[in-house]
Order: sequence, then structure tokens, then C-alpha cells
Amino acid sequence: MQGRTVDPPSLSSSWLSVGLVAYGIHNMKFNLSLNLVLAALAFVQAAPIRPEEIHSKAAKGLRLLTLAEDAEPVWKTEDQKLDLMRQGVKFIDVTETYEIEQAIPKSAAKAPAATFPAPSHQTAVKALTATISLANMQSNLATLSNFNNRYYKSSTGADGSNWILSTVQGIASGHAGVTVAAFKHSWVQSSIIAKIPGKSASSPVTIIGAHLDSINLSSPTSGRAPGSDDDGSGTVNLIEAFRVLLASGFQPSTPVEFHWYSGEEGGLLGSNAIATSYSNAGVKVKAFMELDMTAFFKPGSTEVVALEADYVDSGLNTFVKSLVTTYTRLPVTMDSPCGYACSDHASWYKFGVPTTMPFEAVTGNDNSRIHSTADTTTLSGFSWSHSLEFAKIAVAFIYELAI
Ligand SMILES: *[C@@H]1O[C@H](CO)[C@@H](O)[C@H](O)[C@H]1NC(C)=O
Repeated sequence: MQGRTVDPPSLSSSWLSVGLVAYGIHNMKFNLSLNLVLAALAFVQAAPIRPEEIHSKAAKGLRLLTLAEDAEPVWKTEDQKLDLMRQGVKFIDVTETYEIEQAIPKSAAKAPAATFPAPSHQTAVKALTATISLANMQSNLATLSNFNNRYYKSSTGADGSNWILSTVQGIASGHAGVTVAAFKHSWVQSSIIAKIPGKSASSPVTIIGAHLDSINLSSPTSGRAPGSDDDGSGTVNLIEAFRVLLASGFQPSTPVEFHWYSGEEGGLLGSNAIATSYSNAGVKVKAFMELDMTAFFKPGSTEVVALEADYVDSGLNTFVKSLVTTYTRLPVTMDSPCGYACSDHASWYKFGVPTTMPFEAVTGNDNSRIHSTADTTTLSGFSWSHSLEFAKIAVAFIYELAI
């Protein structure tokens, strides 16, 4: 998860209009022409950035970031980008997707909340969740946390991604039609995508995601970043849910995909690249759920599943609420709004996909030691029995939506 501490800076240029409107109060006629000038300025602002500008600035190492929904993206150096991350400012790095995104038609209005039927496969799902292995998740997380870090630009970050690829390939082997592949990026760490085909191949796909990268904010490339909770926890929940479903002979009616994203900590890089690519290719997505941090709650606080409140679909949240009450031992509650670009669900939300993100705790009771050497399984508050409930949510989400 990107940092939570600071609200994004205001990007509005309202000081300009305030000044001009104040001037206009004394001169109605001139105010009219000022309005024309303002309209022209707005038009200039909205004009897309030209491909030549993107290529030349990107070649100089600049990155193009969006810091708020519908705001014009801004150019930052890598150092400035790192400073934003240290200040807890969240953003989507659109340097490599901006041009493609311009070509994707935008729907005029936000889609209304999606509707999903209530859970109706209790017997089958409970039989599956009973086979979730905590030992598998523990062993997988031990391996992942042992990479010095899983930063998206470091060689150990690439190693971590390769390890997930071969582990998930091992699980898929022998299951006809199931595919596992790296989704390559311009940086060294790939995202990983596993696909279970649906009997109806052309139906909308159900996607579950987690991010495989980790970061040490003071020294990203070489510093130690075990990333056990953020987001080793969601990563191993997905690996185990994938194993449980395939081991049961699961053959869904509609297609299912498991995504492990590269570079979430660098501005939702992997998920943004994939969501843009899917939207550009016209892939229809039924629902997207992100699991980013599932293994911590503040010692002494009430243990809950907290649903992210913004950049999500209220209908899908209603569905996930009923999954939590039907299939886990935990109560479910709404979190306070997390803000723009909190995690990978924001990449899909941008393209009108119904999204949801069940989170480990309400803000304030979540893990404050992420992005550091202290994000380990021995940190006080790290709880395997807590994370286990999120693996159940993952299995139930896929089964109920795709069977
Ligand atoms: C980053 O890593 C270095 C070296 O491994 C360590 O000394 C430092 O404390 C780490 N920074 C954080 C924020 O944990």
C-alpha cells in the first residue's frame, strides 16, 4: 500500500481565477473577456500532452504522475517522486500508459453501483476454505520475506517475482487450460498473471490482485525491506487460494485471473500497466478485489475486516460484506476513506471496473511499520490467524462470482 499519512497537495490553480474574478468585480465588461481567457486556459490545460514531450522527458528520467482523480498529470524527477512517497503522498505513475490511455474512449458518466447475488454456495465454499493451509502460507511468506527487498528496480525484486512465477507455475502444472505467465515491464521486476479459463470463454473475467513488491523508503534499491505484511500477506493469500481452488478441480463458468503486481510502491506501476492494457484490448472485467495488507491489527484493538470506502464499488462492497459474515469469524466494518491511489484497485477503478479492497484493520489500527526493516512476521500485532480469514475471502470471492 502506498503511504497514508498526508493528503495529496491541492492541484487547483484557483488562485488564478480568484484573482481574476476579484479584478472583474470592478469591471464587468473586462470580466467577460477574462472569462473567455479563462475558458481558453482551461482548454489549453485539458489538451493532452504530446507524445514527443512524453518521450523526450521520459528519456531524461522524468516521470509523469497523477496525484488526484481527473487532475492533469505532473512531471517529477525520480528524486522528487521518492520525496512524495516519503511524505505519504499517493499517485499513479502514468509515464508509460498516458498515451495508450488517451486512445481509450472514456464513458461519459460513472457506472452505477454493480449488483452481485448473495453468496449461495456455502457447502462448497466451506469445504474449500477448510483446506487452506496456514503452513503453506507461512513457508511461502518466509521465502518472500528473505529476499533482501522486492523493490521493483532491484535484482532481488526481480528474483522475488521469478520465484512467484515458478511457484505458481508449479501449482498450475497438470491443470489443463490454466496458464501462468510474466507480464513484463520496462523495469526488471515482472508482474505475474495466472488464468483459469471459464467454460464460457467470452464472459467477463473476475480478477483478484496483490502486489509482490516491497520497499525500504530510506534506501529503496539496496535497503532491507522484508514486506511481510505489505504485501507479502496478500501475495501468499492469493497463492494459497489459487492452490486450493485448483486442487479441488475448480472449473468456473466464467474466467478467473490471479494477478501479482510489480511496482505498486512506485505508483501502482504494474496494475496500471495491466489495467490500461486490458482496457485498451477491450477485456471486460466483472469484478476486481485487491488484498494489500491482511496480517496485522493493533494489539488490543478489535479484530475486524475493514472495507476501503473510496475508489470502490458500493455494490461489490455489499457482496464482500456478506462473504465476510458468511465465511469468516470476523466482523466487517467500513474504513475511513484512504484517498487517491491507495492500492492497485485504483488502477481498475479508473477504467470503470467494480472494485473492492478488504483491509487488515481500520486506519489507525493497521500496520505503521510498513516500508521499513520492521515489516516482519515477528512484529507485535502480526497475526496469522487474522490473515487466514483473508485467504478464505479470496477463495469465496472467486468461487461465488465465477462458478
Ligand atoms: C533501510 O535499510 C537500511 C539497511 O538495510 C536500514 O539501516 C534502514 O533502517 C532501513 N530503513 C527503514 C525505513 O527501515
